[in-house]
Amino acid sequence: MSEFAELSFGGKTYQIPVVTGTENEKALDISKLRAQSGLITLDYGFKNTGSTSSAITFLDGEKGILRYRGYSIEELAENSNFLEVAYLIIYGELPTKQEFDQFVKDITMHTMVHEEVKSILDGFPSKAHPMGVLSSLIGALTAFYPEALDPSRSADEVNMSIIRILAKMPTIAAWTYKNEIGHPVNYPDNSLDYCSNFLKMMFAVPSDKYETDPVVSDALNKLLILHADHEQNCSTSTVRVVGSSHSSLYSSVSAGISALWGPLHGGANQAVIEMLEGIKADGGDTQKWMDKAKDKNDPFRLMGFGHRVYKNFDPRAKIIKKAADNVLNKLGVHDPVLEIAKGLEEVALKDDYFVERKLYPNVDFYSGIIYRALGIPTQMFTVMFAMGRLPGWIAQWKEMRENNEPIGRPRQVYVGKNHRPYVNIENR
Ligand code: ACO
Repeated sequence: MSEFAELSFGGKTYQIPVVTGTENEKALDISKLRAQSGLITLDYGFKNTGSTSSAITFLDGEKGILRYRGYSIEELAENSNFLEVAYLIIYGELPTKQEFDQFVKDITMHTMVHEEVKSILDGFPSKAHPMGVLSSLIGALTAFYPEALDPSRSADEVNMSIIRILAKMPTIAAWTYKNEIGHPVNYPDNSLDYCSNFLKMMFAVPSDKYETDPVVSDALNKLLILHADHEQNCSTSTVRVVGSSHSSLYSSVSAGISALWGPLHGGANQAVIEMLEGIKADGGDTQKWMDKAKDKNDPFRLMGFGHRVYKNFDPRAKIIKKAADNVLNKLGVHDPVLEIAKGLEEVALKDDYFVERKLYPNVDFYSGIIYRALGIPTQMFTVMFAMGRLPGWIAQWKEMRENNEPIGRPRQVYVGKNHRPYVNIENR
C-alpha cells in the first residue's frame, strides 16, 4: 500500500507520497507540491534533499556503512582491484573472468592520447595546478571525439566514450604532473596494469629502467577503490546536473573535476597535508590548532575532519588509517606528520566541540600521508582522487541518461528588490 505524509498549509491539507528505498530509507516526493500548493522546498546546500534515486552506492552515515552495488567497501578494498570495482560500479555486477579480461583489454588498447593533446598541454604554464590542466584536457577530448558530443547515440558508442575516458585518464593525469615539473611526458606502457602504468608515466625518466614497486601499486589500487564512488556528493551531483542538459561524458566529467578541486571537497587531501606541515613547522602544538578550529572568529577549519553525511565515522578513513601504517612500514618511510595527524585525531575525538558536532576524520585525513609515502607530490593529491572517482562519475552519468532524467534545474526563493522603475544615469 502506498504511504503518504500530510502537509497542512493555508487551510488545506496535501498528501505527499513517501518513496522507500531498498535499504528502507524514506523520502517525501515533492515533485508535484508546487503545482498543487504553490510551495517549493528550500534547502541550502541540498543538505536534506534527494536529487535522484540511484542503484549504485549505498551509504548510511549514522552507521558508517558504504557499499558499491551491495558489496561492502571493506571487502572490496581487501579483495578486489580498481578496474574490477570500476566495472562493478559502471555496469552493475562483478565481471566474469571473460568480461573482466575483455574490459582490461579494451582499456589497455586506448591508453594513448592524440598527439595534439600534448600541444594543448604545452600551452599551459608549468606552474599551472594539475587539477586545472586535467579538467581542461578531459574537456578537450570532445575535440578529438566529436561523436561523443551527442550522448544519445548508440549504447556501443557511449560505451566507447566510457572506455576511452577510463583509459586516457591516467595518461593525462601523469602528463599534468610532467607539465608541472617541466619534464617530457612518458607514453603508456601497455604491458603494465592500470596502476603500474600510471606510476611509470609519473616517475620514469628517459635514462632509467623504471620498475613499479608492487607495494606502491597495491596501495594505489586500494586508494582508488576507496574513492571510486560516494553517491550524490558535490562533484557527482555536478556531473549529473551537467549531463542532464545532454552534455557529453567528457564535458560532464571535466565539470566534476572542477567541483572536486575545492578544499571543502577533494581538494581537502592537499589541504590536510599543508595543514599538518604548517602545524609541524609551528612546533607541533596540536592543541593550539584545535583551539583555532573551534574559534568561530577564526576561519581555520581542521581539514580532513567532518563530513556532510558521515556522522559517526567514515569507513574509508578507518581503512586508510590502517593502510597508512602498513604502507609506511613496508616502504620504510617515517613521516612525522603521521604522528601529528594521529595526535590531532586523538585530541579531536575527545573534544566536546567535535563530539557534539559529530566531526570525525574523513577519507582525506590520512590519504595524503599515503600518497606522500608513494612519492606522489602534494599538488597531485586531488588528481589521484579524480582518477579514483572517475568510475563513479561515469556510472552516475550513465544511470542518469538511462533513467532519462529531466534537466537539473532547482528553484529559489527570491529575496531581492521588488519591481522599480529604471532611472537614467544623470538622475542617479
Ligand atoms: N573544523 C572545525 N569545525 C568544523 C569542521 C572542521 N573541519 N567541519 C564542520 N565544523 C563545524 C562547523 O563550523 C559547524 O559548526 P556550528 O554548528 O557551530 O556552526 C558544524 O561543524 C557543522 O558544519 P557544516 O559546515 O555546517 O557541515 P557541512 O555538512 O556543511 O560541511 C564539510 C561538511 C564541508 C566536509 C565540513 O565538515 C568541512 O569543511 N570539513 C573540512 C574540509 C574537509 O575535510 N572536506 C573533505 C570532505 S570529504 C570529501 O569531500 C571527500
